[in-house]
Amino acid sequence: MATVKLTNVKKIYGKNTVAVHDFNLEIADKEFIVFVGPSGCGKSTTLRMIAGLEEISEGTIEIDGRIVNDLQPKDRDIAMVFQNYALYPHLTVFENMAFALRLKKSPVTDENGKTKYVKLSNDEIYKRVTEAAEILGISDYLLRRPRELSGGQRQRVAIGRAMVRDSQVFLMDEPLSNLDAKLRNQMRAELILLRKKIDTTFVYVTHDQTEAMTLGDRIVIMKDGFIQQVGTPTEVFEMPENLFVAEFIGAPKMNIFHANLNEENGSYRVSVCGADIPVDGEKGEMLRARGVPSREVILGVRPEHITLTSRNNPAAIPCVIQVNEMMGSEMHLHVLSPEGEEIIVRVPTVQFTAQQVASLVAGAKIFITFRGKVMHFFSPSSEFNLLTHDEPEENEATEDAASEEPAAELENKEETL
Ligand SMILES: Nc1ncnc2c1ncn2[C@@H]1O[C@H](COP(=O)(O)OP(=O)(O)OP(=O)(O)O)[C@@H](O)[C@H]1O
Ligand SMILES: [Mg+2]
Repeated sequence: MATVKLTNVKKIYGKNTVAVHDFNLEIADKEFIVFVGPSGCGKSTTLRMIAGLEEISEGTIEIDGRIVNDLQPKDRDIAMVFQNYALYPHLTVFENMAFALRLKKSPVTDENGKTKYVKLSNDEIYKRVTEAAEILGISDYLLRRPRELSGGQRQRVAIGRAMVRDSQVFLMDEPLSNLDAKLRNQMRAELILLRKKIDTTFVYVTHDQTEAMTLGDRIVIMKDGFIQQVGTPTEVFEMPENLFVAEFIGAPKMNIFHANLNEENGSYRVSVCGADIPVDGEKGEMLRARGVPSREVILGVRPEHITLTSRNNPAAIPCVIQVNEMMGSEMHLHVLSPEGEEIIVRVPTVQFTAQQVASLVAGAKIFITFRGKVMHFFSPSSEFNLLTHDEPEENEATEDAASEEPAAELENKEETL
């Protein structure tokens, strides 16, 4: 168990490749932290700096209150699982897991108060390996060689090899990315259980937002070496601080509309693609509390928050289906808005009759809508969330687009749902 603290940590490769900029984070004891972000954003570099495998260009890293900048990896009391976990092919599972323990020397103080470093006893090694194997469900395979195991079992051995070291901090860099999708889902669930059994601090790297959301107590979302947001899965999903986080977290990704936010006597409405939608509830209150003026906005709405409606609804946006991805229990309708925005609508199949489902095909015209409470508002220039960041007023109140007619070609008498 340990805390990990990174203060103004920076990594420059060579003369001027800045891989990580001014990284600040306090990880609590026994917390499960996930670094997530697209390829090249600096996740592995940050993890490797914590491990001591990469030198720190600026800043400090503390483990349990002790600055470890100049400590060798072996002296940092950390365990690490890499994406490419090479097991020794000629050793049994037991010996693969015991390998590091056989080399390890622990300090023992004798009766004269002198500290000696002694190897672990065979009994101690047996105890640690069998306990870890039990937790990981690989007790039956201890005498097998790695080639006699499935991918998932090998993955568990790699985790076991790190677990037996009983370290203060457990670092994992994309440990599931070599597995196929089904096995990855299974191992993800197992990691959640494992985490409860080994009471330690985890730092886990992935580029998969689902892994980040399901595993992390808190998620650190990174882009181009900069932290974009740190928060619980719920916080980053419900209140993304900028457009990047909004689109990165959630699948399928958040839809983006160009819209106008209109304020009148403290009440807000959004005009988007010819529809006029009140911003009611908490979102409206937050806009009011921040005094956000009428302005142009980037409007974000998640696919699962859009519903189909009738043409008579003043909040209806006429769209044309491009593709219907039938997933079984739900459909992902890829539609084109009157402004040419590509929108994804996620609808549960159970809500429709077979005849209605059959009518939701490419080329069909439908009307979509959403409530004010699911809306996210971003500044078109800074891309910050207008509910969490103040910004100087940029635009005068824009024209009320609500009075505009929907695109002419959609104005016909097609049957809608
Ligand atoms: N040894 C190195 N020398 C120079 N540049 C490097 C080195 N290692 C990494 N980089 C650069 O630093 C940046 C961050 O790399 P890093 O490996 O941390 O990314 P990542 O977020 O782990 O990406 P991925 O998801 O692809 O593993 C990248 O632009 C990368 O090209
Ligand atoms: Mg990486």
